[in-house]
Order: sequence, then C-alpha cells, then structure tokens
Amino acid sequence: MELGEPQVLDALGVLMGVSACVTFVILQKLETSYGRYCPPKIRWGLPARLAWGLQEMPSLLLPLLEWVRFGDQLRQPNALLMAMFAIHYTQRTLIYPLLIRGGKPTPLSTFLMAFMFCIYNGYLQSRYLSLTEYPDHWTTQPHFLAGSSLWLVGMVINIHSDHILRSLRESTETGYRIPRGGLFEYVTAANYFGEIVEWLGFALAGWSIQSSAFALFTFCILLRRAEHHHRWYLKKFKDYPKSRKIIFPFIY
Ligand SMILES: NC(=O)c1ccc[n+]([C@@H]2O[C@H](COP(=O)([O-])OP(=O)(O)OC[C@H]3O[C@@H](n4cnc5c(N)ncnc54)[C@H](OP(=O)(O)O)[C@@H]3O)[C@@H](O)[C@H]2O)c1
Repeated sequence: MELGEPQVLDALGVLMGVSACVTFVILQKLETSYGRYCPPKIRWGLPARLAWGLQEMPSLLLPLLEWVRFGDQLRQPNALLMAMFAIHYTQRTLIYPLLIRGGKPTPLSTFLMAFMFCIYNGYLQSRYLSLTEYPDHWTTQPHFLAGSSLWLVGMVINIHSDHILRSLRESTETGYRIPRGGLFEYVTAANYFGEIVEWLGFALAGWSIQSSAFALFTFCILLRRAEHHHRWYLKKFKDYPKSRKIIFPFIY
C-alpha cells in the first residue's frame, strides 16, 4: 500500500504524541539542560539570544513558505489557523530573543534538539494546514470559537508572564528573584501555563492529530520543567510562597 502525504502527516502526528509521552517519563528524573540547569562550564554553547532566534526559526519560515506557495488557494479556516501558528513564532523568533536579559548560554545539544523539533513541527503543522480542506463554516463552530479564544488568552498570559520574569533583572544581571504579580501569585510557572493554554486552544480550533500532538508535547515538556522550577525555588528561597501551585492555578 502506498502512503500519500496526508497519511504520512497523520503518522508523524502520532509519532509526536508517542514521543511526548516518552519524554514525559524521561524528564521525571532528568532536567532540561538550559537556563538555570545549564552546567556552569559547557564546551559547546550558543548565547541565549542567538539560540532562541535560530532554533525557533523553522517554525516561522515553514508556514511562511507554505503561504507564499499556496496562500491564494487557502480557505479561510486554514488561513486563520496558519496565522495563529505563525503569529506565535513571529513573537518567539523575532521579538522574544531580543528582549532576553542575562539568559544563560544554551548547550549545543539542547539547541540542536530544539532546532530539529521546530523543523518537524513547523513542517507538520504548516503542511497539514495547507493540505487539509476545512469547510467554510468551521470558523463559526463552537470548538473553533472557544479554541481561538483560548489561544489568544494563553498567548497574552505567556507574553505577560515572560515580561514579569524579565523585569526581575537589570540588563546586565544573571541571578534569580522570586517572581511577583500576574498569575505568578498563583503558580510558579505562569509563562508555561499560558503556553499550554495557547496550544490547547490551537488544538481545539484545528481539531487534528497534528495540533493535538503539539499541544500534548508542550504539556509534557513544560509540566516537567515547571515541577523542576518549583522544587528549585523552594530550595533556593526560604521565603518562597508555600501556597503557590506549580503550574495550574488552584489545582497543581
Ligand atoms: N512549546 C514548548 O514546548 C516550549 C518549550 C520550552 C519553552 N517554551 C517557551 O519559551 C519561553 C522561555 O522558556 P524557558 O524554559 O527559558 O523559561 P524560563 O525558564 O521561565 O526562563 C525565561 C527567561 O526568564 C529568566 N528567568 C526565569 N526565572 C527567573 C527568575 N526567577 N529571576 C530572573 N530571571 C528569570 C530566564 O533566565 P535564565 O535563562 O538565566 O534562566 C529566561 O531568560 C517561555 O515562554 C516558554 O513557555 C515553549
């Protein structure tokens, strides 16, 4: 049996979902080795700004390429979903890196893994969205309306929370303080909470194996990293607010 590109995209989506679950188990014991967990002396590393700008770039360029090639044939729901993905990665690739203050260098191995993931995911989401024919009434369906609203709310929480973290440092500082304000009053990892809500919304709006796999991947990686951050804060700061949850306000 010969597989067409839609079947390959489904298989890649399932593979991403399975990899997410495996990663979730592995990260129970292992910390993601960048930022505060980056070893003090690394042999091969990239400055934080360069690493973030380059590693996330494929997830911006691949949808833009699809847009250039097939933009005039895209149906409205496809175009909106593609725009949601590209807007996030425009922020993450072109704006976020420039705003980083005193970020730790990223080990080459971590950079390469993130870069490859962004090629995989950029291809998966953008090809799926340009090949699939969403019906015109899709954008008035309750799950699209709820999903796109969640996507927007999640992105705002994510950007606002990253801004709070940045404001904890002067431009040349590299140390850490207890984050205050916004959703940090409720959880340790408010920025990750926003990111998870954002991609959950995208998955709901797109209703596909591909978008769900990415939402699951984000959840698995960021939940584990949030748990590590939470333990790290409790160890580092004696006065860290004990009532703060890890990532989901009032829940966990
Ligand atoms: N979709 C996904 O799967 C995925 C995966 C990973 C990350 N992300 C997103 O990428 C963004 C960055 O992620 P991240 O893991 O680097 O986030 P992070 O560990 O919270 O760090 C974010 C930035 O704030 C600084 N920072 C964090 N806590 C601080 C504190 N208490 N005091 C002073 N500065 C502090 C960090 O500096 P240092 O570098 O010096 O620690 C870093 O520059 C987030 O928006 C996240 O949601 C998405």
